[in-house]
Amino acid sequence: MDKQKKIGILTSGGDAPGMNAAIRSVVRTAIYNDIKVIGIRRGFEGLLSGDIFEMTPRTVSNIISSGGTILLTARSEEMRTEAGTKKAAEICRILGLDAVVIIGGDGSLRGGRDLSKEGVNVIGIPGTIDLDLPCTEYTIGFDTAVNTGMEAISKIQDTSSSHERCSVVEVMGRQCGAIAMWCSITGGAEEVLAPELPDVTMEVAIQQIIANRAQGKKRNLVVVAEGVGDSKLLASEIERITGIETRATILGHLQRGGSPTATDRMQATFMGYKAVEALLEGERNRVIIYKSGQHTSIDLEEALQCERVNLVDYYKMLKVLAI
Ligand code: F6P
Repeated sequence: MDKQKKIGILTSGGDAPGMNAAIRSVVRTAIYNDIKVIGIRRGFEGLLSGDIFEMTPRTVSNIISSGGTILLTARSEEMRTEAGTKKAAEICRILGLDAVVIIGGDGSLRGGRDLSKEGVNVIGIPGTIDLDLPCTEYTIGFDTAVNTGMEAISKIQDTSSSHERCSVVEVMGRQCGAIAMWCSITGGAEEVLAPELPDVTMEVAIQQIIANRAQGKKRNLVVVAEGVGDSKLLASEIERITGIETRATILGHLQRGGSPTATDRMQATFMGYKAVEALLEGERNRVIIYKSGQHTSIDLEEALQCERVNLVDYYKMLKVLAI
């Protein structure tokens, strides 16, 4: 008789709304298919220290609607070292894990890739608000983070309009401008500064605000991706050069929390289900992705080498709509 299969599951890096929905989906799909699931707390840190527990369908009750991750998360320095990766792989062998499902962003999947090179079967699920994994058109948490940013921006726009001010709003995204672009389009911004748009500098934004004022625009909104620099400095420069009262708001970790949207719950559920399906089909070292309306999987190593997404077309549209 075949021995019962056993998998580990962990969340790593920055948490993202929808991670819980993905955990629930993996756990229930696996147990439905007679696979044992070991929950690993605090990402790779918990794997290295053996902080684990057996999961059941009931350990994931009532979590689909909550933000954060019930498995807790961390960024592990030890996993960046060869010794750390070898130790983690050895622990997986001692625990008898047939595979480890890793839910996280770029850094987490790189940790997974290193683990896979030590012989552990790794299935990655893209979980990050940043949408900075070019191998997939969706990463769990993005929609909720954009909605949170958009709602905050709409509120800022109300007060900014009343005072005829300029607002600078900084959003998260590490070195990726996707959150900034979506927040600026859905929030009706006049300008956006993002790492993918090196020509849109602070000076360009200031000249745009001056031109907008000349055309009768009383309030202006500039969205800044955290990867491009100092939003407070930009606000003070706008005020100094244009004479328009300007306020800066940094949304920060507000965007990482909250109940996941329907899109995030659906994406997370599909990705979790597909991750177990991939394991059942004998796939090794894959990342579940969303491409052209379909959930599929690609090789883990290949996933980390995809080219950066181009935001130029989004930017062109934003500028047309900001006249
Ligand atoms: O990767 C998700 C993210 O929220 C980024 O947008 C941000 O740069 C970073 O994590 C913040 O990390 P921390 O929670 O460690 O401050």
